[in-house]
Order: sequence, then structure tokens, then C-alpha cells
Amino acid sequence: MSHESIPLAGVIGFPIIHSRSPQLHGHWLKTLGLRGHYVPMEVHPDNLAEALQALPKLGFVGVNVTMPHKEAVLELASHVTDRASLIGAANTLIFREDGTFHADNTDGYGFIENLRQNAPDWDPQVGPAAILGAGGAARAVVVSLLDAGVPEVMISNRTQLRAERLAQDFGNRVTAVDWGHASRMIGEAALVVNTTSLGMADKPELKVNLDGLHAGQVVTDIVYNPLKTKLLARAEAQGCVTVDGLGMLLHQAVPGFERWFGIKPKVTEALRDATLG
Ligand code: ATR
Repeated sequence: MSHESIPLAGVIGFPIIHSRSPQLHGHWLKTLGLRGHYVPMEVHPDNLAEALQALPKLGFVGVNVTMPHKEAVLELASHVTDRASLIGAANTLIFREDGTFHADNTDGYGFIENLRQNAPDWDPQVGPAAILGAGGAARAVVVSLLDAGVPEVMISNRTQLRAERLAQDFGNRVTAVDWGHASRMIGEAALVVNTTSLGMADKPELKVNLDGLHAGQVVTDIVYNPLKTKLLARAEAQGCVTVDGLGMLLHQAVPGFERWFGIKPKVTEALRDATLG
């Protein structure tokens, strides 16, 4: 590609209408005064391989990947980063001159950076983390917590087998806790994370007893619609430091933007507003 062409990036998913990534990257492109575009693209699973071959030829330097393609892109990539491989999914692709692409996963990075920015006193090494849920998002969170030096990660999930599989995959610092004992697990943790979709607008509420939440704990939710979930409201009322899920979405976008457009962007209040707006 000649240096005069305008770099293009975007997000592929099916459906794609709900993605906030175009607003997010669009805000950075505009405020940094960069030439470039970020576009949402609906790609049917049957057309994934073909789309990934065509996009570099059209001037794309990379894309974000969302449901349902996050696992399938690993098979098509020429290189998969260690963290994407451990998580078993990618969210950020970097296209190369020869038409191949690298697959990375920045969800865990986004998770940790959100905590570092919004709960700066949280010390990963100080105590165990309690995770609610054992799906794809939980996997990214677990990888990032282990990497950050959390001594123990406890996982509780409605479907016990999924929590046990996750624990098995990550060795003896990760343990599965019966869903019936989730409440006790929450009370014992330094960090509590909801990675389930419960609490999201139009979804049921989390039905776990939260009486054990107390001052000194950090509580975060990956749900960001609404920003203040019932879990976070309750945690705040019980004296915990709370961090909403929007920051994870914003921070996970940073490494891709930097690779594609050459500048490391900042996560600001204005970015939050632009992304939600
Ligand atoms: P993601 O990739 O976003 O994590 P997922 O893999 O579908 O999505 O996982 C969703 C998580 O929310 C799972 O932990 C799921 O629990 P199960 O493994 O038992 O399905 C959890 N979840 C969804 N609806 C739930 C509900 N009504 N009660 C309890 N947990 C629920």
C-alpha cells in the first residue's frame, strides 16, 4: 500500500449494529486529527475467510472481531499471540503486506487497565479474585489476573462443569466453586468480577446473595448497559470500590488503534461520552 492511502480499520461481526467500536475509534480519529476511517461490517460466518482475504486488498490495516467470529479467526490467522491462544479467541487482527494476518486478544489487557485506571489502589497480589461466570469473557479475565500476579482465582458458574474446565486449563491457582457457594466466595475475595450477562438491560438480575460484600473489596462488572448494575450499586452501598464495565471496552481498543494508526490513544471522560452517545 502506498503511504498516501488512507488507512482503514473496522469491526466485523454478525450482527454488528450494536457495536460501539465505531463511535469509540471514531472519537480518537477525530480528536487526534488522524486520516483514517473505522467502519462496522456485517460478515456472515459463511463469508468470514473470504472477507479476511478481501479486506487488506481494500486498504484495511486491521479489524476488531466480535461475535460470532472470535474463535473462528484463530484457524485462519498466520500467527496467534500467546494470550489469544490461551483465551481461545481473538478480538484484534493486524493485516500484513502479504495478505496474512496476526490475531491478538486485548480483552484481558482492557480488563486490567480499566482496574488500574479506576481502582488505582487495587494491588493484584493482595488477595484472591472471585469470578462469576465461566464463558469467553471469564477466560480473558482469568488469563489477565494470573498474569497480573493474583495469587488465587476462584470461579463460580451456573454450569459447574464449565467452571471446572476453566480451572483445569489454568492449573492450581484457579479453583472452581460450587454455584451454591458463590456468596461465600464473594465475601472472601479482594476482587469480585461479574463476567456473566446477568444484570444487563433486558437480562435477568444476578441472583447471588451479596450480603458478604464489604469495604476493602473492589467490585467490577463487565456489563456496561446499564453502567451502574445492581451488583455495582449494592457493592457501593456496602463500602466497596466499584468499577463499571465501560472502561474495559475502551481500554481493549487501545492496542489495536495504536497498531493501525500509529498513536497510543488515551481513555478519557470524553471518550466514554462519545462511545455511549
Ligand atoms: P461470554 O463470551 O460473554 O462470556 P458466554 O460464553 O455465553 O458469553 O457466557 C455467558 C456466561 O453467563 C456464562 O457463565 C453463563 O453461565 P452458563 O455457563 O451456566 O450458561 C452465564 N449466564 C448466562 N445466563 C445466566 C443465568 N440466567 N444464570 C446464571 N448464569 C448465566
